[in-house]
Amino acid sequence: MELRRAEPSDARAIAEVHVLAWQVAYAGLLPAEFLARLSVDEREARWHWNLGRGALARVTLLVDQGAVLGFSSVGATRERDVPEGYGELYALYLHPDRWRGGLGARLHDAAMDEGRALGFRALTLWVLEGNARARAFYEAKGWAPEGKRAEFTAAPGVAAPELRYHRTLG
Ligand SMILES: CC(C)(COP(=O)(O)OP(=O)(O)OC[C@H]1O[C@@H](n2cnc3c(N)ncnc32)[C@H](O)[C@@H]1OP(=O)(O)O)[C@@H](O)C(=O)NCCC(=O)NCCS
Repeated sequence: MELRRAEPSDARAIAEVHVLAWQVAYAGLLPAEFLARLSVDEREARWHWNLGRGALARVTLLVDQGAVLGFSSVGATRERDVPEGYGELYALYLHPDRWRGGLGARLHDAAMDEGRALGFRALTLWVLEGNARARAFYEAKGWAPEGKRAEFTAAPGVAAPELRYHRTLG
């Protein structure tokens, strides 16, 4: 098992984990037809483009015998109302077959290290309000909700409420 920085050639493997994790984690939170239609090809193209742009986000992979089991992404904040020194955890996804084995925590800790290496003193993230699993995970890992709520729009007509959390990096 190793942690390493993602490259554009990892786009397909990341997209596969991304789509599967959405389908399992967001069942009951986003419409079933929308989740069933999620396209690995489309995600792969987006990831390929993102990773090719280089410095915008640090994407870390958890890899076991060449297979990507999960990924995290951290970088500059997209928020307008956070203090100086804040970054953002954009994504943290693990293959559903491997949930509850401590691997999410490993990936999370690597993302926190990347956040510190980028010079951030704190991070925010957005999580679906109904995503009880991830919220319990983040709360166990030192994150707290800020009381800020917004509407996450996954596609036209496909939306769900999300909450902002924050965590200092120490
Ligand atoms: C969130 C996610 C990364 C957690 O990864 P994981 O490997 O299952 O979590 P870990 O096993 O490392 O758990 C670490 C701690 O988090 C808490 N936790 C994790 N899953 C939990 C659950 N289902 N219920 C309650 N607490 C949970 C526990 O305190 C756990 O420690 P413990 O095992 O000693 O009790 C994983 O579930 C995932 O990829 N989910 C889908 C994607 C997602 O929702 N990402 C967040 C998008 S914002």
